[in-house]
Amino acid sequence: AYVITTGCAGVKDAACTEVCPVECIHDAGDQFVIDPGECINCGLCAVTCPVNAIFENSDLPAGHHASIAYNRHFFL
Ligand code: SF4
Ligand code: F3S
Repeated sequence: AYVITTGCAGVKDAACTEVCPVECIHDAGDQFVIDPGECINCGLCAVTCPVNAIFENSDLPAGHHASIAYNRHFFL
């Protein structure tokens, strides 16, 4: 699944929510998050985010691995 990192916080552009074909991106307050059970790995959100805050979970930048659990915990 794709994951939204802390780069979203303070920006929350929401362009990602408009391109997601399965509508699995949700406002979690500080930032938006992706439901990993619904994401189909299309990658559209990642190329749309103006601050490049979205990554595939296997391709996260150093220091951002906590975002996997942070996104997931909203949907357990
Ligand atoms: Fe939605 Fe595709 Fe992004 Fe997954 S990768 S959150 S399905 S736009
Ligand atoms: Fe955040 Fe980028 Fe979406 S700033 S709301 S992840 S378009």
